[in-house]
Amino acid sequence: MSNSTRTVVVTGASSGIGKATAAAFAAQGHKVIGTSRNPDKVAAADRVPGVEYRALDLTDNASIERFVTELGAVDVLINNAGESQAGPLAELPGPAIERLFHLNVFGPVALTQAVLPGMRERGYGRVVMVGSMLGSFPMPYRSSYAATKAALRTFATAARFEESPFGVWITSIEPGQIDTGLSERRTKYIDEGSPHTTDFGKLMAVLDAKMGQGITPEKVAKTIVAAVDSDRPRPLYAVGSNAPLMFAVRRILPRTVMERLIASAHGLKR
Ligand SMILES: NC(=O)c1ccc[n+]([C@@H]2O[C@H](COP(=O)([O-])OP(=O)(O)OC[C@H]3O[C@@H](n4cnc5c(N)ncnc54)[C@H](OP(=O)(O)O)[C@@H]3O)[C@@H](O)[C@H]2O)c1
Repeated sequence: MSNSTRTVVVTGASSGIGKATAAAFAAQGHKVIGTSRNPDKVAAADRVPGVEYRALDLTDNASIERFVTELGAVDVLINNAGESQAGPLAELPGPAIERLFHLNVFGPVALTQAVLPGMRERGYGRVVMVGSMLGSFPMPYRSSYAATKAALRTFATAARFEESPFGVWITSIEPGQIDTGLSERRTKYIDEGSPHTTDFGKLMAVLDAKMGQGITPEKVAKTIVAAVDSDRPRPLYAVGSNAPLMFAVRRILPRTVMERLIASAHGLKR
């Protein structure tokens, strides 16, 4: 794709992976539309030269509709915006789970549905779902988040061959730990006096420490650009947290062993 100028939409371009991805596509000379809930409040230091910032709140259907209506032809959609959530399943409030699914799944799915017909008519398109390795390797206290990422990946994997005959490829990327500060913005739900307090605390401490050791968002952006540039993007790209080793080990080990390994790597004895 690098040879021609395309229109690229990156959701959640105000920080982290989205910002790095918007910068990578802008550096290739493409027209980049980046989204934020508050585009006017994106700090000068976070603004990527050449990127046009537009308002989009993926938890708000009216905002999605407004954004889509004002959107012209889109060649590449990077569904990156998302929120991280944690808490024991028994204590996650229903409205919090619903909001997470709206932001991490229903919003990106609605955007994808909006751009696919135009991509198909023009004979070119790329849609990248930014999932998480937790979608493939779920862990305790991350059920809602892991479920949203597995759902997003499954939409993409199932639908890929619907549009690929028309030159439109849908793919997923599953980052591991990436040093974006996402953990500070993670929403946490745990009841006062919860029987899970100790284990939840242990897991959060390990996750926060691992995030600081994560790879840079620029490395994830590089993988996203490579996927988009490919003539035939793979169903899934994984990057960070020893992804190749993790996926290889998963093919060999029984699921029961794998789940104990994941728990113990995060401070939980099972
Ligand atoms: N960091 C990691 O370790 C990691 C690992 C695996 C997967 N991921 C995934 O990678 C993606 C980016 O993560 P990140 O670490 O770069 O996070 P981040 O720095 O917190 O960025 C999240 C982006 O999402 C946008 N956003 C938040 N709520 C939104 C809403 N309601 N509607 C629309 N946009 C919204 C934010 O923009 P505004 O606040 O400006 O609206 C922000 O630009 C997420 O989908 C995340 O789940 C991250």
